[in-house]
Amino acid sequence: MCGIIGVVQKRGQVAPFLHQALKRLEYRGYDSVGVTTIAEDQLHMKKDKGKIEEVHMKLNLDEMPGSIGIGHTRWATHGIPSMYNSHPHFDCNNEIAVVHNGVIDNFLELRKELASKGHKFGSETDTEVIPHMIEDYMADGMNLTEAITEVTKRIEGTYAIVAMTTKEYGKIVCTRDGNPLVLGRKEDTTYVSSDIPAFLPMTSDMILLLDGEIAALDTEGVVIRKLSDGTVVDRETIEISWTADQAQKGGFPHFMLKEIHEQPDAIRNTLRLKPEILQDAAQLILESRNVYFLAMGTSGHAAIAGKHMFASLAGILPRFELASEFPDTVYGALSENDCIVAITQSGETTDTISSLKYAKGFDTKVIAITNVVGSSVTRIADHTIITQAGPEIGVAATKTFMVQLTSLAQLALVLGELTGSVDKRILKEKRKRLEKLPEIISEVISRNEEQARRLAGLLHDKPSLLFLGRGISQATSEEGALKLKEIAYNHAEAYSAGQSKHGPIALVHDGYPVIFVAPRDETRNRIIGNIMEMKARGASIISVIERGDEELESLSDHLFTIPSGIDSEFSVMPYVVPLQLFSYYMARRKGYDPDKPRNLAKSVTVL
Ligand code: G6P
Repeated sequence: MCGIIGVVQKRGQVAPFLHQALKRLEYRGYDSVGVTTIAEDQLHMKKDKGKIEEVHMKLNLDEMPGSIGIGHTRWATHGIPSMYNSHPHFDCNNEIAVVHNGVIDNFLELRKELASKGHKFGSETDTEVIPHMIEDYMADGMNLTEAITEVTKRIEGTYAIVAMTTKEYGKIVCTRDGNPLVLGRKEDTTYVSSDIPAFLPMTSDMILLLDGEIAALDTEGVVIRKLSDGTVVDRETIEISWTADQAQKGGFPHFMLKEIHEQPDAIRNTLRLKPEILQDAAQLILESRNVYFLAMGTSGHAAIAGKHMFASLAGILPRFELASEFPDTVYGALSENDCIVAITQSGETTDTISSLKYAKGFDTKVIAITNVVGSSVTRIADHTIITQAGPEIGVAATKTFMVQLTSLAQLALVLGELTGSVDKRILKEKRKRLEKLPEIISEVISRNEEQARRLAGLLHDKPSLLFLGRGISQATSEEGALKLKEIAYNHAEAYSAGQSKHGPIALVHDGYPVIFVAPRDETRNRIIGNIMEMKARGASIISVIERGDEELESLSDHLFTIPSGIDSEFSVMPYVVPLQLFSYYMARRKGYDPDKPRNLAKSVTVL
């Protein structure tokens, strides 16, 4: 939530790079944007409400002097999207510029205190207290690093802060607590950003900044210190395997469509996880009394599917809890004998991170499944599985969902071998079929994309749609409904098909669209009953079924088909793909940008 970029370079104008980097961060928030540079002892600022390209058309973000600058793309928390509330924010003398991601909980109290000393505020944001506090500390003789260190002692909440001042030309200072910041380095240029893709075209050399640390960047490099005592931290540079091309649209009209098409490769790469990584995770799970899956959003749907996989392949039944609710549902009934599997593509979701911190208070073991090396979750976890989706830019998760499922499937197979609840030969066969999924999913995409586009043409004006599934397919229908809500803004509700006659069926009338996820598994006969019930009330039946399932074909008005021979434990992976494509084309048909759905952000770093 909110994208931050800061760059110190030796020569040349930094503004065009800041503009492009912000575009690569736009998935983090896009209600307003702002850039500040320093040239000739002065801050130069452009900011306004709107998406980056809209603001660029108005203000020309590329035309700003100076080779040092910071930028921000906002997802509003405090104060409506407006020019005044856009970041950067400044002190009274326009000498200090600050961008911030997170929430300062005690900002009202601080603002009052600063106002009583004569500070003038130009926005409604919590952020603006920061430059004014820095101003006071610098007036007392501190340098920027010392001033920010003092600020962190007064502010409560979560933050990633990046600041610069005309009084210390050539330097950017940043710190974090609970919100991400990564540093990058190439020759005599130094970068700081909320996320790696921002500077990926320039460098894949990344340096982590951890909570409770402060970094000073200049053209020589970075000095990282501990906030607590100022000691210098020696932090190695990590070379990341993501490439700049992965963060480009590569000829596709949207990142989301590109990322749907990248799913076969993402699965293939995640199938190459080192066996010992899975073995170690499996060992932790087996040693535990209770196993919990914690996740939010799409990752929660991977957790629901994972639960079925663990139960069916390994005889282990974890509990899935929404991370946001966990402390209020577990009532402290946790111990060092329990284990949490935290599933989070970004590794930064505050709901997930704060629940893990809560659980760590009981010494509970944590396994993280995440797509981002060095993300916050990896620093809390006892053991981490890094999925191999590469950067995902579209706000609606697609390929990261697929690799979460791939990791859970592999973990379930390893657990199955260890528990012996399923015959080893059967597990081996299943593993082989799991390895075939990349090819199968390529085929699913090519066979269903046109149908998804066609159905979007027929259904785009339906105000409400119901998604029904049974067993593991509930995860598929939940994800299908979420995708549609997220990007096409149709009301979409997912329900257990079994439960549908206890309420949702009252919604059904002539032509009401009901989407059934109905693979040929043990639930199939019961789902036929549910289809009949809906048909009898005039519903228009759209089903995702196995190719050649004539009975279901004859009951459906519209179809998506999936090749046969898919194990029920892995069925979410191919069966969700037509639903991803359907949502994408629904959004396009309705004229919405699928990559930037309103009010959403890819990484949700507020509670
Ligand atoms: C946001 C994103 C979703 C994502 C959810 C959880 O809502 O828009 O796509 O599923 O956060 O994110 P995580 O990074 O924890 O998987």
